[in-house]
Amino acid sequence: MSVRIHFRRNLFSFRHIEKWIFTFYIFFKIAFTFYSSIPSDETEILEPYSIVEFKQLKKRISIALDILLSFRENVSCPILFNPEDQRYPEAAAKASKWYFESSDWNFWRQFEATPNTCEALQKTFSFFTKPLSQVEAEYPLAYGMLVYKDIKQLLYVLSAFYQPQNAYCIAIDGRSSGAFKTQLQTIQTCFPNIHVFVTKRIEYCGPQIPEAVLTCVDKLNERNHPWKYFQ
Ligand SMILES: *[C@@H]1O[C@H](CO)[C@@H](O)[C@H](O)[C@H]1NC(C)=O
Repeated sequence: MSVRIHFRRNLFSFRHIEKWIFTFYIFFKIAFTFYSSIPSDETEILEPYSIVEFKQLKKRISIALDILLSFRENVSCPILFNPEDQRYPEAAAKASKWYFESSDWNFWRQFEATPNTCEALQKTFSFFTKPLSQVEAEYPLAYGMLVYKDIKQLLYVLSAFYQPQNAYCIAIDGRSSGAFKTQLQTIQTCFPNIHVFVTKRIEYCGPQIPEAVLTCVDKLNERNHPWKYFQ
């Protein structure tokens, strides 16, 4: 008989267990509701580019193509994007003869001469200022490049795959000119996610190439950037 009384007074007896379960349930429910109401960067819904913004981007890309010497006269994009067009064979033949003229010494000077070089570069090459989709925002990538010369070509290539959520490492060949190195340092100051460094002198097909790539991965790791995939 005395054993039974003791059992009844025990807090964890079967009489109380439902109350405990209920209390825990309420506690976790409140805690979960509170926690899920805190907005996190990962789940934040990205505001997509509006039609007006897309029109502006299109206009800017057009400016970047206008800078290319004799591009417009030789390459007709509307025809080349439409193989059904009767003028297509002629347009394709003409476009295939056009080549990228990189030795344009005044090219960089026009950006240097402006009071805000970063803004001029950003606008001319239409670097994206926000991710294009929520999926891309949540899956940032890392890129490594090894470059030697030609800032003009580099800006065209870089702006084509630049996205603000990604991380970029640009390794500059130790043999590059001082001017080229300085130009890249300027680009680095314009974009917080572009990291630039000078490697050893790279020999053709030399072991310095994979070394530069691995150094890039190292540098990108140091930056504490949440990139998920390196290419
Ligand atoms: C392209 O167009 C320009 C101007 O019309 C012309 O001078 C040039 O020879 C053309 N061809 C190439 C391959 O650039």
